[in-house]
Amino acid sequence: MNPKLGFGFLLLLLLCYSIESKCSAGCDLALASYYVWQGATLTVIAEHMNSSILKSTDFDTILSYNPQVPSKDSVPASIRIKIPFPCDCINGEFLGHFFTYTVKSGDTYERVAANYSGLTTIPALRRFNSYPENNIPDTGVLNVSVNCSCGDPSVSKDYGLFMTYPLQPSDTLASIANETNVTQSLLQRYNVGFDFNNGSGVAYIPAKGIAGGVVAGISIAAVAVALLLAVFIYVKFYRKKKVKGAILLSPSQELSPRTVQVPGSNSNKTVDATGSQGPAGLTVDKSVEFSYDELAKATNDFSLANKIGQGGFGAVYYAELRGEKAAIKKMDMQASKEFFAELKVLTNVHHLNLLRLIGYCVEGSLFLVYEFIENGNLSEHLRGSEKDPLPWSRRVQIALDSARGLEYIHEHTVPVYIHRDIKSANILIDKNFRGKVADFGLTKLTEVGSTSLPTRLVGTFGYMPPEYAQYGDVSPKVDVYALGVVLYELISAKEAIVKTNGSSAESRGLVALFEDVLNQPDPREDLRKVVDPRLGEDYPLDSVCKMAQLAKACTQENPQLRPSMRSIVVALMTLSSSTEDWDVGSFYDNQALVNLMSGR
Ligand SMILES: Nc1ncnc2c1ncn2[C@@H]1O[C@H](COP(=O)(O)OP(=O)(O)O)[C@@H](O)[C@H]1O
Ligand SMILES: *[C@@H]1O[C@H](CO)[C@@H](O)[C@H](O)[C@H]1NC(C)=O
Ligand SMILES: *[C@@H]1O[C@H](CO)[C@@H](O)[C@H](O)[C@H]1NC(C)=O
Ligand SMILES: *[C@@H]1O[C@H](CO)[C@@H](O)[C@H](O)[C@H]1NC(C)=O
Ligand SMILES: *[C@@H]1O[C@H](CO)[C@@H](O)[C@H](O)[C@H]1NC(C)=O
Ligand SMILES: *[C@@H]1O[C@H](CO)[C@@H](O)[C@H](O)[C@H]1NC(C)=O
Ligand SMILES: *[C@@H]1O[C@H](CO)[C@@H](O)[C@H](O)[C@H]1NC(C)=O
Ligand SMILES: *[C@@H]1O[C@H](CO)[C@@H](O)[C@H](O)[C@H]1NC(C)=O
Ligand SMILES: [Mg+2]
Repeated sequence: MNPKLGFGFLLLLLLCYSIESKCSAGCDLALASYYVWQGATLTVIAEHMNSSILKSTDFDTILSYNPQVPSKDSVPASIRIKIPFPCDCINGEFLGHFFTYTVKSGDTYERVAANYSGLTTIPALRRFNSYPENNIPDTGVLNVSVNCSCGDPSVSKDYGLFMTYPLQPSDTLASIANETNVTQSLLQRYNVGFDFNNGSGVAYIPAKGIAGGVVAGISIAAVAVALLLAVFIYVKFYRKKKVKGAILLSPSQELSPRTVQVPGSNSNKTVDATGSQGPAGLTVDKSVEFSYDELAKATNDFSLANKIGQGGFGAVYYAELRGEKAAIKKMDMQASKEFFAELKVLTNVHHLNLLRLIGYCVEGSLFLVYEFIENGNLSEHLRGSEKDPLPWSRRVQIALDSARGLEYIHEHTVPVYIHRDIKSANILIDKNFRGKVADFGLTKLTEVGSTSLPTRLVGTFGYMPPEYAQYGDVSPKVDVYALGVVLYELISAKEAIVKTNGSSAESRGLVALFEDVLNQPDPREDLRKVVDPRLGEDYPLDSVCKMAQLAKACTQENPQLRPSMRSIVVALMTLSSSTEDWDVGSFYDNQALVNLMSGR
């Protein structure tokens, strides 16, 4: 493989690359068009489209992609519904995804395939399942492969999301073009040699562009009116700043070393993507490569007693390493050479509000070594019964800390990054109750692992903005939206997806819940009802109200209207300095932070 190809991996993913018959990488998101046969209910469909990503009970997610379906209990027959799934490169051979189907008595490959209405084929079921044709055990689990596409930059770079669309006998090129609102010529260019009038086979239908004009203007003025004067001043001041074109720059494209001020220290450090010497006189931080033996020793052979966390990728262990407390994340995952080039950059990104990556190890599994954070994650503080409730002033502080960390990666690193999985579980709380953004850099890792493991759809439902969940549009505003959801969590201590009636099938997003509240003519009283009961009466409603307005601005549907992370930092700084007087018992001197942060 051309080394540049690997190096520009992320960029290529964005453009959704595919090399002739073989693949090297998948993409975050594809859609399957499921033809609803007579008698199929959403429950039945979800049983068939069960996947590691979309749990079969996640009707809300399915419904959000299918506004034409009024509710989970009434799905009209003979329509098509869209099911989101990640598109992986399978065995380096083709782009697809494995759904799992739990066999029912009497199922054969033929009957199972029929229920997928063309999304999978009988030969594909035979290939990926070891059960003999006529002896599939009841309750056995089948691997059901569904092919997908990530597009073709030689056709157009404007489309990054594709729908796997099995033809029904009545379909024609004209009817598909009409139904999907895609021109016939574009359909043909994306499906060269495909006979649209055969009534069978699978076509790939583009859904909407993701390249070009990713996030441009910072048109926050309209949003922030209700917010703070400070925001205005700040924006005015920075308006002339050049707008970034490419968001996920690959390191190969911008290797010039760059000096950054490292908060919390007096020294300048050079962030250099190649790890080579920076300009004379400046220190270059070296990332540390550890041996497996050293990590095993530091964790008592990865003993259960040392285990402190379990995330989507692997277990996290407490370690004492070279005299320092550390946390080691162990993942069964392959990583490429290119990824380590990237890791070297990440180990050099230092900020008070970003969990620091100290080093790594690649023997057997993949290990990432982080600084240890004493107080667990924000989600535990908000909802865990064993933790004391966080006072309001601390919540504001943690919000500001998180925004600070994100502003740093959005604007001040080379290359700049988008986190893509901001949520309360990924914000860690240190011994001084300061927030640190974690899981940073892992978004890249997930993609690198795509040939050996199913990639997860990067991000978490409930925190994903509509343009990302539906079309895969990636911009810093994805993080802005997710941070907005975290702000709502800080206010209410509710989960991003709120279960109603305690049943998992009935749920609704925190964003929608707050929108109902904030759209009242006088939201203050209703706002009181959703404030975390564990705060009691100990909160200034004014401050809560402002934070809610900020969260609302962050979670607007139109990404361009959402404020930039920089503006959010300013807003929260102002909020934080007006809140500190409220809670005199607060451990923190907010003003000191404001001073530090603004370089005074
Ligand atoms: N550096 C750390 N210090 C202390 N606890 C940590 C650290 N890193 C992770 N954890 C704990 O482990 C959990 C999972 O870690 P995370 O990095 O978010 O993994 P994943 O990417 O799999 O979600 C976190 O929510 C946190 O509770
Ligand atoms: C979905 O798959 C998971 C894991 O394979 C399984 O535990 C679950 O029972 C399945 N759900 C349905 C409805 O088949
Ligand atoms: C799907 O399976 C069910 C039960 O086996 C069957 O009644 C139904 O006709 C099948 N649908 C299709 C489209 O074959
Ligand atoms: C997926 O694509 C591969 C390679 O083009 C093909 O061999 C296979 O039959 C397809 N599988 C399905 C389920 O369509
Ligand atoms: C499904 O795929 C997994 C992973 O490749 C494999 O271990 C398992 O045996 C397969 N299931 C069947 C029924 O063959
Ligand atoms: C195209 O779709 C519209 C509704 O979206 C329908 O009224 C019209 O008859 C369709 N035309 C063709 C040629 O199918
Ligand atoms: C179809 O596409 C055109 C332009 O591409 C757009 O103006 C129109 O609103 C779209 N119609 C639907 C129903 O999506
Ligand atoms: C569709 O293509 C297959 C294979 O080429 C062929 O056997 C079949 O007759 C075609 N059907 C129609 C309706 O054209
Ligand atoms: Mg996590």
